[in-house]
Amino acid sequence: MKLFIDTADIAEIERIAGWGVLAGVTTNPSLLAAVEGDEDTIYRRICELVDGPISAEVTEPDVKDMVSEGRRLSAIHPNIVVKLPTCAEGLTATSELAKDGIPVNMTLCFTGSQALLAAAAGARYVSPFVGRYDDIGNDGVEALRDVVESLFATEYDVQVITASVRSPVHVQEAAKMGADIATIPPKVFDQMLGHPLTDKGLEKFNADAAARAAKTKKTPAKSRKKG
Ligand code: G3P
Repeated sequence: MKLFIDTADIAEIERIAGWGVLAGVTTNPSLLAAVEGDEDTIYRRICELVDGPISAEVTEPDVKDMVSEGRRLSAIHPNIVVKLPTCAEGLTATSELAKDGIPVNMTLCFTGSQALLAAAAGARYVSPFVGRYDDIGNDGVEALRDVVESLFATEYDVQVITASVRSPVHVQEAAKMGADIATIPPKVFDQMLGHPLTDKGLEKFNADAAARAAKTKKTPAKSRKKG
């Protein structure tokens, strides 16, 4: 399973890209509203930082305007993927853009039926929202499984992006069931990496390395940082 980052925060994208783990980026209007700066400049910078699919969401409500905004976003960089909502207008716009070979990520997907419609319209990616399904008292992981299994035996060339990820458990469950991608907020990347036993073990190794260096009168190697 590939790991994408779900943010428009350039500093965070740069930080996690530095780990060498990122295969793509997703953004949405709420994530963009949380950062300063011109939208197109942000997309261009993200494309410089991560060499993979970069989702940029359309905000127009009507099909004609969705299609022209999608074409405009797509022209920013070859790696841009146009993000469209899973609704009737979004399906029509997806099929129009797909005819031109423009990749589309259909977002706000919650069921296998919605995912099948997105795939049939020509979406290259479909994004089931796990956390938001949990939020209304349902099982988001099971809803994700419904999407993955619904698409599994179809002929569509579509990849599942696990979205609305709120915890490392969501990422692990997505990987175990064979979802293609998980798009992960920076905070969850940190939660995935950190472990108290790793920190404790590293402290001990650093202390032992320093003690040994003192005994042999060698300059100790610079202490390694905690994860
Ligand atoms: O990729 C969609 C995602 O950003 C939504 O996440 O946490 O706002 O439900 P959340």
